[in-house]
Amino acid sequence: MIFSHHFLSVRHQSQGNLEQILERARGFEKQARAGSDHPINSILATLFYEPSTRTRLSFETAMHRLGGRVIGFADARTSSVAKGESLADTFRMLSHYADIAVMRHPREGSARAAAAYATIPVINGGDGGHEHPTQTMLDLYTIQSERGHIAGLNVILCGDLLYGRTAHSLAWALLLMGANIICVSPHGLEMPSHVMHLLHERFGKFPAVEYDLTAAIADADVLYVTRIQKERFLSDEEYFAAKGSYTIDTELMSHARSNLVLMHPLPRVDEITVEVDQDPRAAYFRQAFYGIPVRMALLDMLLKGEIKLPTEVGYVIREERCPNEMCVSRSELYLPPEFEPLAEKPDTYRCIYCDHEVEEKREEWEVVEEKA
Ligand code: NCD
Repeated sequence: MIFSHHFLSVRHQSQGNLEQILERARGFEKQARAGSDHPINSILATLFYEPSTRTRLSFETAMHRLGGRVIGFADARTSSVAKGESLADTFRMLSHYADIAVMRHPREGSARAAAAYATIPVINGGDGGHEHPTQTMLDLYTIQSERGHIAGLNVILCGDLLYGRTAHSLAWALLLMGANIICVSPHGLEMPSHVMHLLHERFGKFPAVEYDLTAAIADADVLYVTRIQKERFLSDEEYFAAKGSYTIDTELMSHARSNLVLMHPLPRVDEITVEVDQDPRAAYFRQAFYGIPVRMALLDMLLKGEIKLPTEVGYVIREERCPNEMCVSRSELYLPPEFEPLAEKPDTYRCIYCDHEVEEKREEWEVVEEKA
């Protein structure tokens, strides 16, 4: 599959690509408030199968500020999915209505699946607990804006790192940009092992893991806080056991550096007390604004075909589907169950949609087709 005109994962991007997007966004900052004198004749489709405030509205604002137009839905119950339409059919059809699309969906790997059937660029606006690459771009932009650079900074990723898709994408991008990351989470909500393996495979090291936020905060340049992802828990008990396990309050902030950047992708529930909002180090509302220039840059570059990515090759198609129940290949049954061999672990394969791993002797598989 060729990904060159989609924005599905930060893992497809080179450091150069990320820097180019950030630079283009910098050029859009003024226009992000004032709008464009040169309207573009393009239509953005927003397909939100899962709740969203910032991502959908900032994409819509970004397209309006570029002078383009927007169509879409914010509630899948009002679309034909409610009648049982597949993602494949939706995106085949949509390609005749719009020039570019952004999608949010509860299934992991759904944006990749949609992109396989679309002839227009598809942007991943969050696919279940998997990735949120455009949020990562605005997170990088925020760090760059607040601190002037990203390389060499100590960034704490704090909160629900198991289900938090923003943290999965950001961890990769921060390492790519030369930052150090420290993962702080409640027990049981650590970064998933498949994400850790991906990071190790690409960067040759695992991120540091720490459970005591008060101890970790003293050396941090950036504290990135995430919400416990209630909607992804299998039971209420599990959620209530994790809820309230960390709180950023004025007392905790007194242990942090004077130039700490406190970030949160929002929505916040109770992870950061409202008193902290007065602290000049609290950057989360500025961060939310940066979503506009960054998404303007992404729309502009994708519409112009300016983001160049490699073609992926070398998958095996296996008869059995991915073991991850939330994988898109478990609900959209026409999708071929494709896997890639892991470079570092023999007899282990990674689902191309959701990145979950399967450990199995290859001989035991019935290989239907092997791509070059
Ligand atoms: C995040 C998301 O949807 O993953 N929100 C956002 O896009 N700004 C974070 C969250 O929902 O907790």
